Amino acid sequence: MTSRRSRIPYTKPASALKPAVTYADHAQIDPNQLTRLFQQAPWAKGRTTEDARAMLANTDLTVSAWDGEELVGFGRVLTDYVYRATIWDVIVAKPYQGRGIGTEIVQRILQHPRLKKVELFWLCTRMPGFYERLGFSSKEQTGMVWSRTKQSRLE
Ligand SMILES: CC(C)(COP(=O)(O)OP(=O)(O)OC[C@H]1O[C@@H](n2cnc3c(N)ncnc32)[C@H](O)[C@@H]1OP(=O)(O)O)[C@@H](O)C(=O)NCCC(=O)NCCS
Repeated sequence: MTSRRSRIPYTKPASALKPAVTYADHAQIDPNQLTRLFQQAPWAKGRTTEDARAMLANTDLTVSAWDGEELVGFGRVLTDYVYRATIWDVIVAKPYQGRGIGTEIVQRILQHPRLKKVELFWLCTRMPGFYERLGFSSKEQTGMVWSRTKQSRLE
Protein backbone atom coordinates (compact mmCIF):
# COMPACT_ATOMS: atom_id res chain seq x y z
CA MET A 1 0.00 0.00 0.00
CA THR A 2 1.40 3.40 -0.90
CA SER A 3 1.56 5.96 1.87
CA ARG A 4 -0.28 9.25 1.28
CA ARG A 5 1.63 10.93 4.07
CA SER A 6 3.53 14.13 3.50
CA ARG A 7 6.90 13.99 5.17
CA ILE A 8 7.73 17.32 6.71
CA PRO A 9 10.97 17.05 8.70
CA TYR A 10 10.77 17.87 12.36
CA THR A 11 13.06 20.87 12.65
CA LYS A 12 13.77 21.08 16.38
CA PRO A 13 14.94 17.70 17.69
CA ALA A 14 15.75 17.76 21.41
CA SER A 15 18.89 15.82 20.63
CA ALA A 16 20.75 15.25 17.39
CA LEU A 17 20.99 11.58 18.34
CA LYS A 18 17.22 11.08 18.37
CA PRO A 19 15.62 10.02 15.08
CA ALA A 20 13.64 12.62 13.12
CA VAL A 21 9.91 12.70 13.72
CA THR A 22 7.69 13.61 10.77
CA TYR A 23 4.16 15.04 10.78
CA ALA A 24 1.15 14.46 8.57
CA ASP A 25 -2.29 16.01 8.29
CA HIS A 26 -3.80 13.51 5.88
CA ALA A 27 -2.31 10.21 6.95
CA GLN A 28 -4.13 6.93 6.61
CA ILE A 29 -3.92 5.93 10.25
CA ASP A 30 -4.00 2.29 11.20
CA PRO A 31 -6.68 2.00 13.91
CA ASN A 32 -4.64 -0.79 15.54
CA GLN A 33 -1.68 1.54 16.04
CA LEU A 34 -3.93 4.30 17.31
CA THR A 35 -5.64 1.97 19.76
CA ARG A 36 -2.22 0.99 21.14
CA LEU A 37 -1.39 4.67 21.63
CA PHE A 38 -4.73 5.25 23.36
CA GLN A 39 -3.93 2.61 25.99
CA GLN A 40 -1.63 5.02 27.82
CA ALA A 41 -4.31 7.65 28.49
CA PRO A 42 -6.84 6.97 31.29
CA TRP A 43 -9.71 8.42 29.25
CA ALA A 44 -8.91 6.33 26.19
CA LYS A 45 -7.82 3.04 27.75
CA GLY A 46 -10.01 0.22 26.59
CA ARG A 47 -11.06 1.85 23.33
CA THR A 48 -11.48 -0.80 20.65
CA THR A 49 -9.94 -0.92 17.18
CA GLU A 50 -13.40 -1.13 15.67
CA ASP A 51 -14.53 2.09 17.39
CA ALA A 52 -11.23 3.82 16.53
CA ARG A 53 -11.77 2.93 12.85
CA ALA A 54 -15.28 4.41 12.92
CA MET A 55 -14.02 7.50 14.76
CA LEU A 56 -11.28 8.08 12.17
CA ALA A 57 -13.78 7.75 9.33
CA ASN A 58 -15.92 10.49 10.88
CA THR A 59 -13.20 12.88 12.06
CA ASP A 60 -12.72 16.11 10.10
CA LEU A 61 -8.97 16.49 10.50
CA THR A 62 -6.09 14.62 12.14
CA VAL A 63 -2.50 15.59 12.79
CA SER A 64 -0.18 12.69 13.44
CA ALA A 65 3.49 12.30 14.31
CA TRP A 66 5.57 9.42 12.96
CA ASP A 67 8.88 7.78 13.67
CA GLY A 68 9.27 5.95 10.40
CA GLU A 69 6.12 3.84 10.13
CA GLU A 70 5.39 4.05 13.86
CA LEU A 71 2.59 6.34 15.02
CA VAL A 72 4.07 8.28 17.97
CA GLY A 73 1.67 11.21 18.32
CA PHE A 74 -1.90 12.10 17.44
CA GLY A 75 -4.50 14.85 17.70
CA ARG A 76 -7.82 15.37 15.96
CA VAL A 77 -10.38 18.05 15.18
CA LEU A 78 -14.15 18.14 14.78
CA THR A 79 -15.22 21.34 13.08
CA ASP A 80 -17.53 23.34 10.79
CA TYR A 81 -14.38 25.02 9.35
CA VAL A 82 -15.92 28.46 9.97
CA TYR A 83 -17.05 29.22 13.51
CA ARG A 84 -16.02 26.43 15.84
CA ALA A 85 -13.53 23.61 16.19
CA THR A 86 -12.94 21.18 19.01
CA ILE A 87 -9.63 19.41 19.59
CA TRP A 88 -9.66 15.86 20.91
CA ASP A 89 -7.38 12.96 21.82
CA VAL A 90 -4.02 14.77 21.82
CA ILE A 91 -1.57 12.07 22.81
CA VAL A 92 2.15 11.36 22.48
CA ALA A 93 3.74 7.93 23.03
CA LYS A 94 5.50 7.84 26.40
CA PRO A 95 9.08 7.38 25.09
CA TYR A 96 8.55 10.41 22.84
CA GLN A 97 7.06 12.78 25.41
CA GLY A 98 8.91 15.94 26.41
CA ARG A 99 10.38 16.45 22.94
CA GLY A 100 7.97 19.09 21.72
CA ILE A 101 5.78 16.68 19.73
CA GLY A 102 2.54 17.47 21.60
CA THR A 103 3.18 21.18 21.17
CA GLU A 104 3.87 20.71 17.46
CA ILE A 105 0.64 18.75 16.97
CA VAL A 106 -1.49 21.45 18.64
CA GLN A 107 0.29 24.25 16.76
CA ARG A 108 -0.18 22.46 13.45
CA ILE A 109 -3.90 22.22 14.23
CA LEU A 110 -4.22 25.91 15.18
CA GLN A 111 -2.28 27.02 12.08
CA HIS A 112 -3.80 24.56 9.64
CA PRO A 113 -4.80 26.25 6.35
CA ARG A 114 -8.23 24.56 6.35
CA LEU A 115 -8.93 25.92 9.84
CA LYS A 116 -7.73 29.48 9.31
CA LYS A 117 -11.29 30.93 9.42
CA VAL A 118 -12.24 29.18 12.64
CA GLU A 119 -12.82 31.79 15.35
CA LEU A 120 -12.91 29.55 18.43
CA PHE A 121 -11.08 26.37 19.33
CA TRP A 122 -12.31 24.44 22.34
CA LEU A 123 -10.98 21.41 24.21
CA CYS A 124 -11.29 19.39 27.42
CA THR A 125 -8.17 18.71 29.46
CA ARG A 126 -6.83 17.77 32.86
CA MET A 127 -3.50 19.27 31.82
CA PRO A 128 -4.33 22.99 31.56
CA GLY A 129 -0.66 23.96 31.99
CA PHE A 130 0.26 22.29 28.72
CA TYR A 131 -2.37 24.26 26.78
CA GLU A 132 -1.96 27.59 28.61
CA ARG A 133 1.59 27.77 27.18
CA LEU A 134 -0.04 27.66 23.75
CA GLY A 135 -2.47 30.51 24.44
CA PHE A 136 -5.49 28.55 25.65
CA SER A 137 -7.41 30.06 28.55
CA SER A 138 -9.74 28.55 31.11
CA LYS A 139 -11.00 31.92 32.35
CA GLU A 140 -14.24 31.69 30.39
CA GLN A 141 -15.85 28.75 32.19
CA THR A 142 -18.79 28.33 29.85
CA GLY A 143 -18.54 24.61 29.23
CA MET A 144 -20.88 21.92 30.54
CA VAL A 145 -20.50 18.20 30.17
CA TRP A 146 -22.87 15.26 29.86
CA SER A 147 -21.12 11.88 29.76
CA ARG A 148 -22.48 8.49 28.88
CA THR A 149 -19.63 6.61 30.58
CA LYS A 150 -17.57 7.21 33.72
CA GLN A 151 -14.38 6.71 31.73
CA SER A 152 -15.15 9.47 29.25
CA ARG A 153 -15.39 11.85 32.21
CA LEU A 154 -11.66 11.32 32.83
CA GLU A 155 -10.70 13.50 29.89
C1 LIG B 1 0.11 16.01 27.27
C2 LIG B 1 0.99 15.49 26.16
C3 LIG B 1 0.19 15.40 24.86
C4 LIG B 1 2.16 16.46 25.96
O1 LIG B 1 2.93 16.03 24.86
P1 LIG B 1 4.52 16.16 24.87
O2 LIG B 1 5.01 15.89 23.50
O3 LIG B 1 5.10 15.37 25.98
O4 LIG B 1 4.65 17.70 25.22
P2 LIG B 1 5.79 18.69 24.79
O5 LIG B 1 7.11 18.01 24.74
O6 LIG B 1 5.36 19.41 23.57
O7 LIG B 1 5.71 19.61 26.06
C5 LIG B 1 6.05 20.88 25.93
C6 LIG B 1 5.99 21.56 27.23
O8 LIG B 1 4.78 21.28 27.94
C7 LIG B 1 5.10 20.96 29.25
N1 LIG B 1 4.09 20.04 29.73
C8 LIG B 1 3.88 18.77 29.37
N2 LIG B 1 2.84 18.27 30.06
C9 LIG B 1 2.42 19.26 30.89
C10 LIG B 1 1.41 19.38 31.88
N3 LIG B 1 0.62 18.35 32.17
N4 LIG B 1 1.26 20.55 32.52
C11 LIG B 1 2.07 21.59 32.24
N5 LIG B 1 3.04 21.55 31.32
C12 LIG B 1 3.21 20.40 30.66
C13 LIG B 1 6.47 20.35 29.18
O9 LIG B 1 7.11 20.45 30.44
C14 LIG B 1 7.12 21.20 28.15
O10 LIG B 1 7.55 22.41 28.70
P3 LIG B 1 8.93 23.08 28.25
O11 LIG B 1 8.91 23.17 26.75
O12 LIG B 1 8.90 24.40 28.94
O13 LIG B 1 9.96 22.14 28.76
C15 LIG B 1 1.61 14.13 26.51
O14 LIG B 1 2.26 14.24 27.74
C16 LIG B 1 0.60 12.99 26.59
O15 LIG B 1 0.33 12.34 25.59
N6 LIG B 1 0.07 12.68 27.78
C17 LIG B 1 -0.84 11.55 27.95
C18 LIG B 1 -2.13 11.76 27.21
C19 LIG B 1 -2.91 12.91 27.79
O16 LIG B 1 -3.30 12.86 28.93
N7 LIG B 1 -3.16 13.93 26.98
C20 LIG B 1 -3.93 15.07 27.42
C21 LIG B 1 -4.63 15.65 26.28
S1 LIG B 1 -6.03 16.59 26.82
